[in-house]
Amino acid sequence: LEFADKLFRSALLSLAGNRAAEAFALKYGLRLGAHKFVAGETLTEALEKIQRLNDKGIAATLDHLGEGVTRISEADSFREEYSRLLIGIRESKADCNVSLKPTQMGLAIDPGRAYDNIKQIVKEARSMRNFVRIDMEDSAYTDDTINIVRRLHAEGYLNVGTVIQAYLFRTEKDIRRLSLEKVNLRLVKGAYKEPKTLAFARMEDVNANFREIIAARLRSGIYTGVATHDEAIIDWVKSFVKEQTTPYSSFEFQMLYGIRTQLQETLAKEGYRVRCYVPYGRMWYPYFVRRLAERPANVLFILKNMIKH
Ligand code: FDA
Repeated sequence: LEFADKLFRSALLSLAGNRAAEAFALKYGLRLGAHKFVAGETLTEALEKIQRLNDKGIAATLDHLGEGVTRISEADSFREEYSRLLIGIRESKADCNVSLKPTQMGLAIDPGRAYDNIKQIVKEARSMRNFVRIDMEDSAYTDDTINIVRRLHAEGYLNVGTVIQAYLFRTEKDIRRLSLEKVNLRLVKGAYKEPKTLAFARMEDVNANFREIIAARLRSGIYTGVATHDEAIIDWVKSFVKEQTTPYSSFEFQMLYGIRTQLQETLAKEGYRVRCYVPYGRMWYPYFVRRLAERPANVLFILKNMIKH
């Protein structure tokens, strides 16, 4: 079963970078079922959904979908979109920060320009007392992403953090260093296709490492987002913080829009900080395929939707 699971995941993750499959999907629009995971194509739609989350005591992080940019002009327009987005958040008084992808800001084509773009957004966010989370993409960008955040911190921009993935072997070291530098981190299992030389292939190893890095961060007292839908891990975190009397103000649970919504609400009602990752925009295809790869049942959901429409 584990073999079939891996094959499925790997086949779907290959589709994430497939242009023909993307063109097909975009033609069928959000109707394909992507609306389950994507808050809409416009900022207005996304802000409406965020208002509903905030009403339930759930904070948000807003992601304007886009990645793997191949022209610098495209990266620059994504940067401008993030300026608009920050203003939209301020005007609507939403409890919401922003998440962006480094390759969306041009990291794959011009790292210097990507740094400038990200710095500009972090600067604008700081003037609005907001926070920027730099998502972590595949391992080709781990070093650069971490270095961007460290450099910004060294320059005095503390309203920026990144993401660390439990499936990578290097993670423990990264956690240690970034904790010493007091960087706000989101911890995740990891969503990309990685070689066996760099990442744990077995889910139980990923889970064990995930628990270790969560424990290390919660002990450090530096603000941490525990981003997972895995109830076993969430229950374990709850008993860990109880045992260690970790203040609820030093961490938050994070989940993705459209996944385990009931659990998000329950945790918020129980007094935990909860943040929902809300993606919107026209470039939803690779994000959508990663969500499908995480759970075979999602593919059935999509197929049912295709038949209905
Ligand atoms: P796991 O995959 O073991 O799932 C546990 C249970 O949750 C499943 O049994 C299922 O019930 C439910 N579930 C999980 N995924 C689901 C789905 N797609 N649809 C429906 N149910 C699902 N990754 C990364 O590499 N870089 C990043 O920057 C981020 N950022 C990020 C932010 C936030 C807020 C979250 C929640 C996740 C990420 N991720 C990420 C993705 C992460 O690495 C991982 O792929 C997913 O969270 C799925 O793993 P789980 O921890 O949920 O556990």
